Amino acid sequence: MSSATALDVFDRRESEVRGYVRAFPTVFDRASGSTLVDADGREYLDFFAGAGVLNYGHNNPAFTSALIEYLEHGGIIHGLDMATSAKKAFIEAFERLVLAPRGLDHKLQFTGPTGANAVEAALKVARQATGRSNVVAFTNAFHGLSLGGLATTGNSHYRAAAGVGLDDVSRLPFDGYLGPDVDTLDLFGRMLDDPGSGLDLPAAVIVEAVQGEGGINVASPEWLRRLRAITEARGILLILDEIQAGVGRTGAFFAFEESGIVPDIVTVSKSISGSGLPMSLVLLRPEVDVWKPGAHTGTFRGNNLAFVSARVALETYWADSAFMDGVAAKSALLREELEAIAAEHVDLGFVVRGRGLFQGIACDADRTLAGRVSKAAFERGLVIETSGAHDEVLKFLPALTITEDELRRGLAIVRESLAAVRAG
Ligand SMILES: Cc1ncc(COP(=O)(O)O)c(C=O)c1O
Repeated sequence: MSSATALDVFDRRESEVRGYVRAFPTVFDRASGSTLVDADGREYLDFFAGAGVLNYGHNNPAFTSALIEYLEHGGIIHGLDMATSAKKAFIEAFERLVLAPRGLDHKLQFTGPTGANAVEAALKVARQATGRSNVVAFTNAFHGLSLGGLATTGNSHYRAAAGVGLDDVSRLPFDGYLGPDVDTLDLFGRMLDDPGSGLDLPAAVIVEAVQGEGGINVASPEWLRRLRAITEARGILLILDEIQAGVGRTGAFFAFEESGIVPDIVTVSKSISGSGLPMSLVLLRPEVDVWKPGAHTGTFRGNNLAFVSARVALETYWADSAFMDGVAAKSALLREELEAIAAEHVDLGFVVRGRGLFQGIACDADRTLAGRVSKAAFERGLVIETSGAHDEVLKFLPALTITEDELRRGLAIVRESLAAVRAG
């Protein structure tokens, strides 16, 4: 390690809370597409995409030139919720390319820039709209680490850091939690109908169609449809958290689309800006939009630079089906390769799961394996993360713009790393 990539100043001055720098210990300097370059000029292939914010790759030239043009024009930068030409063009593009083709009449709320900010707003408006406080969330859910989001998040590692009670949330088993033969919604339906169950009628249910941090757990379309029917029949609002699974990750703009349901509230963040600039929004069915003007305000309620790249991303990738057709082909390749890796290591009982370019290999037989493979892969020039309650899942989250050649190269590094880890 040279002085350019030495981490001494981070070790000396950055809080112990730092996380990813420990998993990927170098100083990154620049990036393009699916390649990261560190300050020593060493290249890394990226199967992590900044935790899913870079569905269109690093420094996508279409966004970079639009951002430079906006800066040179002297476009508005601050993020109060005033009307700006960047925001106007984004809303128009979102309406035309995302909402209208899907028959969605949702309103857009711009929240603070993180995913957790969107989740806080969604929970708050659901409680206001129904006058109820309880919210149902699922096992292995991840909805962010601010207090409201954390109360709905499952992982005890994060919950233990709260320091206060994480109240007003009831936990129920996600699809598949009790094995393939149990429909976990039987329990929810039964508890709602039973005055002795102890389950207070919830304001909302919050759910991910594919749980990312929780271990790449996929809710089946039938399960989501049944969840929609149960909630609709009882006036419970359904919040789909599309922060990680949305924006094309699973092979459609929204991960819930495959099921045909219409959620009352949708949280969107991560890749919505395209460029990696922070931006979040909440989609609200008009009758749920009960906010009083300014009731949930703040300094950063819309990142104008992010609006510029977000608008260009929609215009570039979502005007026709070409982008999603490419993702379908790459998803099939990834799935085939992951199944082949599982077959090569039958003794480890790997389970391959996921949808689109959002897949994982779970190894319950040795829960340390995924972490060791991630580390070995980094040493060989691949950035790949783990997820799951025990970090037992090797998580494949490449940019959707990755080439088939890059995908194959990264998979070869995974194979090599796995072999090296097994050889001890
Ligand atoms: C599904 C989901 N919801 C919410 C969040 C929180 O987003 P942020 O980390 O930007 O607060 C995440 C982050 O990974 C997520 O995956």
